[in-house]
Parts: sequence; structure tokens; C-alpha cells
Amino acid sequence: MTLMQWQDSYSVGVPLIDSDHKILVDLINQLFDAKETGQASDVVGSVLNVLLEYTETHFTREERLMARGGYPDLDAHIVEHKALRDKVRAIRTRFLQGERSVVGDDVLEFLKDWLTGHILTRDSSYRPWVEKVELAAGEMLLGFDIDDDEEEDSFA
Ligand SMILES: [Fe+2]
Repeated sequence: MTLMQWQDSYSVGVPLIDSDHKILVDLINQLFDAKETGQASDVVGSVLNVLLEYTETHFTREERLMARGGYPDLDAHIVEHKALRDKVRAIRTRFLQGERSVVGDDVLEFLKDWLTGHILTRDSSYRPWVEKVELAAGEMLLGFDIDDDEEEDSFA
């Protein structure tokens, strides 16, 4: 079952970011489907885990891209990301504590509306700054870790 659908109007002009957003749409749909079809807690919980992990990966990537492009409203954008990240973490914590009903219609509608609204307003406004940023293939795969903050690299 599908709660939301990718629209061409969601494109921010950066294929890597569009791809991330499509994956997030897909994960929200998977969570909706797991709930609607009454899947076991471990199934719903694992989709929730993947959604949280991918959200964090995507936000990090997007924030680094905005920084690379010199986007002037980066701080406010990061604040909005943090609020969503905290909210999804709180949902996951409640779910892990046994509150299965926390993944309900209201939460799914919230995720859908948040993602759609965020892409169409906040994300679309960074387009002129980021669409000309050129990234090496390795940077894309690794979420830009290779060049930016060598001290933060955790490959060792
Ligand atoms: Fe964003």
C-alpha cells in the first residue's frame, strides 16, 4: 500500500539528493504498508530503524552539500533537520518500549507532510547554491567524509 508518491515537482536539481528523497518516500510507504497490513513488531521496528538511519545519512549529506555550496541559510535548515531527527528518534524509542500504536495514522501523515513540505520549501530554496557543486564519485558514496573533516573520519 502506498501513502505518498514521488512528484517531479519535488526535484531539487541534484540527482543525488533527489535519489535520497525518493528513498525516504519509499521508506515512509514501507512503514505505512507494514502498519496497514498488521506486520509483526520486529518488521515495523526494522523499517523504523532503516528510516531513522537513512534520514540521518541523508541530512548529513544534504548539510555538507549546502555548506559546500555556501548556502547562506544553512543554520536554520540544520535546526529543522534536527527537530525531525529528534522526533523520529522519540517515536522509535517509544516503539521499542512497547508502544506499538505510536506508529499510527497521525505519525505517518506527519512524516508525509513534513517531507513534502520540507522538500518544497526549505530544500528547494538551496537549489541555486548546490546545483553547481561538483562532487567526485567517492564523495557521493561516502557522504563527503573523505575531504571535509579528516578528524571525524572513523575508518581507522
Ligand atoms: Fe533538508
